[in-house]
Amino acid sequence: MKKGYTFFTLFLLAVCCSVLSCNNGVQKKTTAPLALKDAFTGKFYVGVAINRKQATGQDIKGQQLIKQQFNSLSPENDLKWQNIHPERSRYAFDAADAYVKLGTDSGMFIIGHTLVWHSQTPDWVFEDAQGKPLTRDALLKVMQQHIATVVGRYKGRIKGWDVVNEALNDDGTMRDSKWRSIIGDDFIEKAFEFAHAADPDAELYYNDYNLYKPEKRAGAIAIINRIKAKGIPVAAVGEQAHYGLVYPALAEVERVLTDFIKAGIDVNFTELDISVLPDAQGVDGADVSNAVRYDDKLNPYTDGLPDKVQQELAKRYGSLFALFMKYQDNVGRVTFWGLTDEDSWLNNWPVRGRTNYPLLFDRNYEIKVPVQQEILGVTR
Ligand code: XIL
Repeated sequence: MKKGYTFFTLFLLAVCCSVLSCNNGVQKKTTAPLALKDAFTGKFYVGVAINRKQATGQDIKGQQLIKQQFNSLSPENDLKWQNIHPERSRYAFDAADAYVKLGTDSGMFIIGHTLVWHSQTPDWVFEDAQGKPLTRDALLKVMQQHIATVVGRYKGRIKGWDVVNEALNDDGTMRDSKWRSIIGDDFIEKAFEFAHAADPDAELYYNDYNLYKPEKRAGAIAIINRIKAKGIPVAAVGEQAHYGLVYPALAEVERVLTDFIKAGIDVNFTELDISVLPDAQGVDGADVSNAVRYDDKLNPYTDGLPDKVQQELAKRYGSLFALFMKYQDNVGRVTFWGLTDEDSWLNNWPVRGRTNYPLLFDRNYEIKVPVQQEILGVTR
């Protein structure tokens, strides 16, 4: 009886092994390349900005890809003031809650974007009930309450905050926003002070675009030094990285890294995308208020991206990731600004109604294999 049992066990084992080895054989041939998040483990997070449909699961295919490929999330719009705090006495947390839940359930490094910005912020923030501009003290109170409420709600779950977004002009001077004109230049330090008080363990960032421009970069370094001088830690600067196929030059991106690192500041690339379309009248950077009139000449790839351009896109992504790898000790995160080309804000900025191809996934949720290969290639 025992012998028979042993023989039967051995037989079963042999069958299992052959099935397994056969599976292995098949697997070897079809094994998908490493997911981005796994390829860069121990180096930096690879993140993606997600929209409401992806956060809530209405775009289930998108959500699956997000979980498969990325280990950090940014909210494309749902934590911006106008969405999360649309009226003086009303917060709207549903979408943000869904976003944070998705990130928490999937063990992602969750980013909050953004607390203090001149854009996508309702007018009432800066006015009293009669529509008159607030005083410095009154606006500071509004800011403090907003930050305490939003950061406090997600304390311990949102791990990093873009505290202030885009406070600088391209020449490095301070942007003339309502925050600045009512409070003064120290609105930035105040915002960081309030965020730090609301969650002392959260990483805090100053985020902006075009930091490859030396004057603007100098402005950002000065801002960050001022915050640090108040004893408030700044974990990193966020370079948005809304780039094109040729601008900025790779050497200019490298200077972003070397100059900040020299100043003792780590760098995250927080909104990476690469427009493949013609420049619209020299509009670069990412000022959301820029708008250029539609012209067919500015929209050449409505029927699909030519292979040659796809290859250029792949090479460009590859060379950027090679740079991120070179400075991996000081790069905490690289985040794509959107999942698929269909989702990208670059279809409507700075020209409405174009067909752009700036991201890793195409309009059918298919990964762009050449882009993926170039990016993964830098890890070998
Ligand atoms: C963009 C979103 O992607 C769009 O959906 C929205 O209409 C406008 O804002 N810099 C930022 C981001 O910090 O918040 C912006 O996101 C893109 C530029």
